[in-house]
Amino acid sequence: MKFKQKWALVTGGSRGIGRGICTELARQGCNMVVNYVSDSNRAKKTVSELVDLGVEAYALKADVSHRAQVDAMVSKITARHPLDILVNNAGVVQFEPFLEVSMESWDLQCNINLKGAFNVGQEVARHMVKRKQGGKIIFVTSFNQEVPNGSQGVYSITKSGIKMLAKSMALELAAHKINVNTIAAGAVVTDINKEQIEQFPGLVERLEKIIPLQRWGTVEDMGKAAVYLASPDSDYVTGSTLFVEGGIMINNGMMINIVQD
Ligand SMILES: NC(=O)c1ccc[n+]([C@@H]2O[C@H](COP(=O)([O-])OP(=O)(O)OC[C@H]3O[C@@H](n4cnc5c(N)ncnc54)[C@H](OP(=O)(O)O)[C@@H]3O)[C@@H](O)[C@H]2O)c1
Repeated sequence: MKFKQKWALVTGGSRGIGRGICTELARQGCNMVVNYVSDSNRAKKTVSELVDLGVEAYALKADVSHRAQVDAMVSKITARHPLDILVNNAGVVQFEPFLEVSMESWDLQCNINLKGAFNVGQEVARHMVKRKQGGKIIFVTSFNQEVPNGSQGVYSITKSGIKMLAKSMALELAAHKINVNTIAAGAVVTDINKEQIEQFPGLVERLEKIIPLQRWGTVEDMGKAAVYLASPDSDYVTGSTLFVEGGIMINNGMMINIVQD
């Protein structure tokens, strides 16, 4: 049990990767606050699964892109108990070619992904600094923090921005013993890409062919990475990125052995 008596907040924690992270942290004894924005029933279900793992857990609704809602959420939490760990996971993607990006789409992705990460990150960091017990802050980005995907330019820009947000925070918060890192996630089947998978048959298989480890990631893969970055095992790691993407970043298009094949 790595996290006995500890409390973590996971934004967008009720489903997908966020739920996977909540589950792995709870398996290590962490008490959980599950943030959600749209589906209270799903949040309740996730909370009840976490409680079944033997930890305390509850859900709080807040739109991370709205600063007042974020401030109210963090105040509510810290009035009940301190926060040791923050996982900024909430995120959205819009698939559209660069020439067709609308201002609405730009604003939506920047507001939720980047401004949302800043909103929650700053407010929780203020609490951690005031408390003087250090802390762990993790941002779920994507391998798109380094390289863009076609028709996902704005999303990639937001993830790249979060990488720099994490580095800036890491630099300024190190003296307060607060570690700030990102998880650059690879492809994981969740609601975020459900439509694309349905719309483009064979997408899953095609991607498996270019991922060196030959499979999509799972929410458990992401959860285990979060456990490492939230635990004392990573006390000497800050301003860094853990790539959990099956090696897709090292594929330069030459996965076949061009000498032998
Ligand atoms: N799946 C992948 O292949 C993949 C790859 C790389 C990175 N990621 C990143 O992983 C993170 C989680 O994505 P996912 O794949 O698990 O997608 P998902 O299943 O669609 O979940 C998205 C989560 O974000 C929350 N959310 C959206 N807008 C929000 C807002 N304004 N305020 C608070 N919460 C909000 C949702 O909350 P509600 O449930 O309440 O709507 C939901 O829990 C995202 O940051 C995504 O960019 C995903």
